[in-house]
Amino acid sequence: MRTELSFAPLQSLETELLAVLAVDTQTAKGPDAKPAPTLLTSDEAVQSAAKTVLESGEFKAGANETVLIHAPAGLTAKRLLLVGLGKQAKATANSVRTAAGTAVRYTKPRGIRALVFALPDSEIPLHAGARAAAEGAFVGDFDSDTYRTDRKDQSVQSFTAVAPAASEKPAIEAAFAEGTIVGESQNFTRALVNEPGNVLTPTEFGKRAATMAEETGLQWDVYSTDKLRELKMGAFLSVAQGSAEPPALIVLRYEPEGVTDGPILGLVGKGITFDTGGISIKPADNMEKMKYDMAGGAAMLGAMRAIALLKPRVRVVCIVCATENMPDGKAQKPGDVQTAMSGKTIEIINTDAEGRLVLADGLAYAKQLGATHLIDAATLTGAVAVALGQINAGAFSNDDATFEKFNTALTTSGEKFWRLPLSDEYAEMIKSDIADIKNTGGRYGGSITAAEFLKVFAEDTPWIHLDIAALAWIDENKPWIAKGPSGVAVRSILEWVRSY
Ligand code: BES
Ligand code: MN
Ligand code: ZN
Repeated sequence: MRTELSFAPLQSLETELLAVLAVDTQTAKGPDAKPAPTLLTSDEAVQSAAKTVLESGEFKAGANETVLIHAPAGLTAKRLLLVGLGKQAKATANSVRTAAGTAVRYTKPRGIRALVFALPDSEIPLHAGARAAAEGAFVGDFDSDTYRTDRKDQSVQSFTAVAPAASEKPAIEAAFAEGTIVGESQNFTRALVNEPGNVLTPTEFGKRAATMAEETGLQWDVYSTDKLRELKMGAFLSVAQGSAEPPALIVLRYEPEGVTDGPILGLVGKGITFDTGGISIKPADNMEKMKYDMAGGAAMLGAMRAIALLKPRVRVVCIVCATENMPDGKAQKPGDVQTAMSGKTIEIINTDAEGRLVLADGLAYAKQLGATHLIDAATLTGAVAVALGQINAGAFSNDDATFEKFNTALTTSGEKFWRLPLSDEYAEMIKSDIADIKNTGGRYGGSITAAEFLKVFAEDTPWIHLDIAALAWIDENKPWIAKGPSGVAVRSILEWVRSY
């Protein structure tokens, strides 16, 4: 998708489709309070072209509600699409992001290849709107039907955002370019997550990371079994030993010129390219979805791509621990005891709790490489879906100040993460009789005991853990995003990094 920013008057734009946003300005409540849809453009020609529809009451400007006007009177555009942002008081740049996605997803199946999107000229700061619109447009353009032989590539080929002429051009241009990078990076992650396990093996995952690193100027290394042995990554190796595919330890580094002190942020991702459960094998129902068990790792790669291109003034090291979790004659068994890189011993209760094992060594290695602050992302537990549904992802931290920075990043990213507790009582639940800790803590509080497990390896380093199991895959189409891989956490991790 090509993107362009224009400052031309809306009235004279020659386009197949012009999208304009609207809010509901009705503040009264009750049965007589009719919705009052109001356009977020002062362009009089657009106002007058939309007048009849707005007065009809058919369009209420609800969030992601759309109405199409053909041959709008007085405009050169062939069609005028109104997209609702919902209640005026709740409209933010995040609503513009989804509205842009909705406009793109409206356009795609209708054979229209170019879309002009009017940025709201009130309610939302123009630069924030421009950035969000670009992000949303890319997110909306993605579909997961990569391997359909009858796939019609219905991508929107050109997305033009239009800002009012008098506005702060350089700031808006910069924000729009930024949004393009962020949107493309989120889609980079989604494309990886979408790949089936037979295509995206750990080795292939490493190759894709290396290619991206080469293209964006990141330093990179991709290691395998020998290096894992050298580093004594007994926890990571214990998962990999049951697979015929060699593991990949992906290391990316972003070192901005002239930055020689200050924090080093360590990004660690779970990269299980397929999770059968191992000897504690999963039931067949829905097992095909376990190709997305590398979504945390893919999110880190997407964030690194955006970091490389947006160039924040902070050093970042990224580690993705990639392997399959397979049952095999050589696979680890419940009851086995493994020694992690940090020296801690782990009793394996359930081989399906493999994510925490690979992350244990990933976190330790990030620390060894100098990370002063850690963040990990993982499709770690089914239990997080039980706790928070598919609305909020889970977040955990051993440090309030570090978490606060992440929480602030969420205002910009528009993603929902909810902090869950950690405490000694939960840590008790993963004590083992034979070893230092065990890899599961029983049925209750499963996401928390998983986080307590990781905390043992983060040690005293400020650390955030993101459990994205319930959000990394979207089961149903939404107006602004296709079902399939979501790319969740890319934007939030990026904003957190940029806050340093
Ligand atoms: N990859 C799964 C978690 C998962 C479940 C991700 C559903 C996405 C959707 C993880 O490796 C796992 O199997 N976790 C177990 C842990 C249990 C054995 C303690 C789980 O959640 O059941
Ligand atoms: Mn598992
Ligand atoms: Zn898993």
